[in-house]
Amino acid sequence: MPLIENKSFSSIIKHDELDCLHINHPDFFAEICLQGAQLTQFKHRLQGDFLWLSPTVQYKQGQSLRGGVPICWPWFGILDKNPSSVTDCVNGPQGSHGFARNQCWELSNITETQDSVMIELTLKHSQQSLAVWPFKFELTCRFTFSEKLTIELITQNLDEKVFTISQALHTYFPVDDISTVSIHGADSHKYVDALDDWQIKHQQQAIQFNQEVDRIYLGNIEYKFKSEHECFELNSNSHSSVVWNPWINKSKTLSQFPDDAYQSMLCIENANVLDDVITVKPNQTHTLSMTLIKR
Ligand code: BG6
Repeated sequence: MPLIENKSFSSIIKHDELDCLHINHPDFFAEICLQGAQLTQFKHRLQGDFLWLSPTVQYKQGQSLRGGVPICWPWFGILDKNPSSVTDCVNGPQGSHGFARNQCWELSNITETQDSVMIELTLKHSQQSLAVWPFKFELTCRFTFSEKLTIELITQNLDEKVFTISQALHTYFPVDDISTVSIHGADSHKYVDALDDWQIKHQQQAIQFNQEVDRIYLGNIEYKFKSEHECFELNSNSHSSVVWNPWINKSKTLSQFPDDAYQSMLCIENANVLDDVITVKPNQTHTLSMTLIKR
């Protein structure tokens, strides 16, 4: 790969069936699978792991890896649960979370400095994507690694028709013990409870976990939560987000997921879903961004 030549920190390695970019910077290590542009690991020398990756993760073609930051695009979650503006753009019944997470992306930019590394991967429309989702597009995911992590997902409409997407950066976080976690920031926000007939509810206090949680929070939220000694802060420009933990029973049904793994992870997914879906006109772009800080 010519882009990788003469780079100080970046190299491509084969992990089982998948090509992965490894970034061995003096201050941090990161791994991105070219399939799905999925960031699987980001570990800072001083701050430790930013992301959770399943101990039983499989690097196989055609399937998303359990952990890190899967990219859900051009629809999020179960297709039928999306507004008609999103489902009208898709041909036929399709699986959850869109097709971008299972496609091979192209490495399009690497910029290395003493303090940071910026990586861009790009996915373009193909015969395969046009059969499912009949729009020409260019999707770019830009990762900036430093003492913090920034991800920007840039959707460009190259078609002559308008399209509407839902999407998410489906981040898996490591926690010491899920039963002790309190997530702050969503207090007083409304949420849609996917486990209770999609009813709209009000978050009264911090979010805590003593059962399965699968909720879409409405509005722009600055999340903060603690796990033992570490504090995570997650910001985004989006106006919807998903908080998820599968708890005991659902854990048993998930791929690449040990039965007790729900105790050591949680997901907060910066999203554009429900009324927050995004319509992109021809020649226009939209950027979903998130920044993760660990203290
Ligand atoms: C979350 C959804 O975003 O992703 C959950 O809200 C879902 O309902 C979870 O179970 C995992 O999805 P998948 O397809 O990666 O197993």
